[in-house]
Amino acid sequence: MRAAVVRAFGGPDAVEIAEVPVPEPGARQVRIKVAAGALNPVDAGVRAGFFGGAGKTLGLGWDVAGTVDAVGVAAAWQVGDPVVALVPGVADPLGAHAEYVVVATDAVAKAPAAVDAVHAGTLPLNGLTALQALDLLDLAPGASLLVTGAAGAVGGFAVQLAAHRGLEVTGHARAGDEELVRSLGAARFTADGLAPGSVDAVLDAAVLGEAALEWVRDGGAYVGVRPGAQPGPVRGVRTGAVEVAADGAGLAELVRLVDEGVLTLRVAEAYALEKAAEAHARLAEGGVRGRLVLVP
Ligand SMILES: NC(=O)c1ccc[n+]([C@@H]2O[C@H](COP(=O)([O-])OP(=O)(O)OC[C@H]3O[C@@H](n4cnc5c(N)ncnc54)[C@H](OP(=O)(O)O)[C@@H]3O)[C@@H](O)[C@H]2O)c1
Repeated sequence: MRAAVVRAFGGPDAVEIAEVPVPEPGARQVRIKVAAGALNPVDAGVRAGFFGGAGKTLGLGWDVAGTVDAVGVAAAWQVGDPVVALVPGVADPLGAHAEYVVVATDAVAKAPAAVDAVHAGTLPLNGLTALQALDLLDLAPGASLLVTGAAGAVGGFAVQLAAHRGLEVTGHARAGDEELVRSLGAARFTADGLAPGSVDAVLDAAVLGEAALEWVRDGGAYVGVRPGAQPGPVRGVRTGAVEVAADGAGLAELVRLVDEGVLTLRVAEAYALEKAAEAHARLAEGGVRGRLVLVP
């Protein structure tokens, strides 16, 4: 099968399309025939060597939408099931930017019925990250939350999920993104930041760090997206960071919210798998709104 791989770290040109063996599912695993998978900042990080693995052939792609194609022993899925899944980690040899990918059964959820695979392939990684970050914040309905990077993938889902949970959401993003961020459910918008201590909590998807922490009231909460790189606690503000984990049940809940129209799946452009390096170059240019998606 064809797969996008990295053999030597570098820029977008480091992404190659290689011919590799079709992976076989083991116990409690399924093989998915990939229909689509989003390209995410983490893929650029893997490509550049931020996650290690020098000297190995590394696969890319943490998001998949497709169809179950083979099942291992005790896999709770049937061949032919339309599914989505998170394909986490660089320890596994191959990712979702390939014709087939093997994942643990408990990372899988039934695909949304309301959208096509190209859109569905943008949900798992960033939907789960937003969900798990909100769970870490553990805010009561009515609490005020600032989401930075609110026009991005994690931030956009976070705004929609938080508004749905009854939080009072302020979106922080570039000035030109105000209409988009408000359309996602942010009651307030800022491109400049807030007065110190203005909100109960921050979900810092734009990695603003200390600057964003300052906007949290004493005794509030801060959750970042770079584990280990979040600011330390000050003024009684609880600080932490999300590290996304596969969670089929959580993903199923996100799928339900897609089908109910609560969550919007945003696609900027679909690229054929062969054009993976071109898609990486487009992502590296910046300013993409909605996800770039690879289609094998
Ligand atoms: N820990 C985990 O498990 C986990 C999981 C998923 C993602 N992440 C991380 O989460 C972060 C967000 O991911 P993503 O996919 O949502 O990225 P994204 O789609 O690129 O969104 C980031 C958004 O933040 C905006 N932004 C950045 N700096 C800003 C600033 N100073 N002021 C205003 N807006 C700013 C960007 O605007 P421009 O495009 O104009 O710069 C973009 O709209 C990434 O660092 C990613 O690696 C972590």
